[in-house]
Order: sequence, then C-alpha cells, then structure tokens
Amino acid sequence: MSESLPVLMDVDTGGDDALALLLAMASPLLDVRGITCVAGNCSLEKVVRNTLALLDAIGAGTTPVAAGMDRPMVAPGLPAPALHGSDGMGDLGLPAPRRKTVEAHAVEFLRKSLSEASEPMTLICLAPLTNISMLLRMYPRIGEKIRRLYVMGGTYAAPGNTTAAAEFNVRYDPEAAAVVLQSGLPVTLYPLDPFIQVGYTREEARALSRAEGAGARIAGGIGLHYCRFFGADFSLIGDAGTVAAVIDPEGATVERRSMHVELAGGATRGATVFDRRIAMQREDEADGWATLDVITGVDAARYRRLMATALGAEGALAD
Ligand code: RIB
Ligand code: CA
Repeated sequence: MSESLPVLMDVDTGGDDALALLLAMASPLLDVRGITCVAGNCSLEKVVRNTLALLDAIGAGTTPVAAGMDRPMVAPGLPAPALHGSDGMGDLGLPAPRRKTVEAHAVEFLRKSLSEASEPMTLICLAPLTNISMLLRMYPRIGEKIRRLYVMGGTYAAPGNTTAAAEFNVRYDPEAAAVVLQSGLPVTLYPLDPFIQVGYTREEARALSRAEGAGARIAGGIGLHYCRFFGADFSLIGDAGTVAAVIDPEGATVERRSMHVELAGGATRGATVFDRRIAMQREDEADGWATLDVITGVDAARYRRLMATALGAEGALAD
C-alpha cells in the first residue's frame, strides 16, 4: 500500500485496543479520520476516558472521538475481563484526558463521516459490534460508502477465549455480530487464530517501555501489565494485529469461507461457525450463513517488526 488509507476505528479501549490505536496513529499508511467507542472490555465511560487519555498521551492531533452504545443489543453483556486492569487499559496511570468527545453519538458520527467522504472508507472494528450493527440497521444504504470492514472477532479453528466456544467481541453482542458479519458487506475477519500468534516477550516489552517515543513506552507498559497479570514472559499485541493486517495484507493468509454466528443460548452462544468442509461451502444466506474473508494465520515476525518500527522502537526487538 503506498498512499495513506482513510479509516474509521471502533474500539473498546482496552489494553490491546490501545495498542491498535498506537499503531494506527503512528503508521504513515493509515489516515485515522475518527474513533468511535463502545462498551465491551470495560464500561463505555472507561472506554471513552481511556481512548481520550491515550490520544493526549501521544500528542495526537484533532482526531475526533465519539461515544456510542453503552450496552449490547439484547442480552446484558458479560462482566468486564479482569485482564485489562481496574481502569480497563492496564492501569498505566495516564493523566485524565483534557480533550473531549464530539457531541454526536458514534452512530451519527459514523453515518456523517461515511456519507460525506468522497470515497468509500475502511472500518477497523476491534470491539463488540453494537455501534456498527446500529449503523447498518438505521441507515441500510450506508454500506455503499463502506469500502471494507476489518473485524477482530470470532474463531476460525481456535477455541474461544471468553467461553469455550466464543470469542469476547462476538459473545458480548452476538446479535450485533450477526447483523454485521452476515450483512453481505465486504468483511475481513481477524479471529483468535491469528490474534494469539503475535506478541512481545517480557524483555521486549520492557525495552519498549524505556524507548524514546511516548507510544512505544505506553505499548511496553501495556505489554508488561499483561505479562504480570498472566504470570507470563510473553504478551499479545491483540487488536493491533488487525491493524497490521490492514497496513500489510501480504503478511496475512486469507481464506474465503461461509460462516454463521450462533445466537441460541447455551454453551455455543456467540460461536462463529465456519464451514471448513473441503467439498462444500454453504452459501444459503437464507439460513443466516454469509461468505467472508477470514485471516487464518499471519507472519508474526513481520507484524511484530511492523509495530515496533512504527513506534520508532525497532531496537527493542530481540530478533
Ligand atoms: O477477544 C479479544 C477481543 O475482545 C479484543 O478486541 C479485546 O480488546 C476485546 O475487545
Ligand atoms: Ca477490543
């Protein structure tokens, strides 16, 4: 990709959403036109605060931030995962934000941004899909102004994380995920399968936390928080891998598959069921199956380096 790609990002910041924002804001190949917040990793209030505080901390320009939906479409969401800490972003102790959100609700902000754009735009969706599903339902023709949705969510062949069968973003709001993933719009899904491949060691995170750039230092602090939380010597860049796949699609292995979001209650609610049979591909959308592009694997070394380089801290990597 040569010139910068205009994108809109939907987040539930969230330590790894923060990593994704740091990469997107640092990359010359992306032009982040706006950021919308939704409840997920933590309450909407904390997501907004974390997102604004992060942008202040890196001295970001006037990228507009809009607050969106504070709960899922139907059932109450799952409890916020403890792994992101009490503030939802790794308890880094960033100063309270000075900047404010725009007045408009996130759904209205997305509609206006897309409608007024000269060309269809790319959406990078790193959170429960409540904002995006509301957008598609309230403005059925808005899809004509969406170039592609890159969605972090679901599982291809990997187990779930928030339940045995389901990944957090999809399980938090399965109905919203079904609306978006089964919309027929161009979707590239970044499921847990590649999500769990890309990360930094504790030592690399420590080196990042001591780097010159504020973004690198924050990224390192988040990585160290995850290492401490899990008692591990490695932590994932999580959502940032989705952004890396937008910036550098050559580093991702993509298959085109039919899938269905399971909405029924019980153990499999929120599961993304992919038809991985070699001979057959379900295309009957009448049963709620849709065909989309799914990233089944990535070049982890390539994306680790991409992120460290974007943060001006390539020297932090051990290899
Ligand atoms: O399952 C991981 C996803 O859920 C990530 O986007 C994380 O930030 C949470 O939103
Ligand atoms: Ca997220």
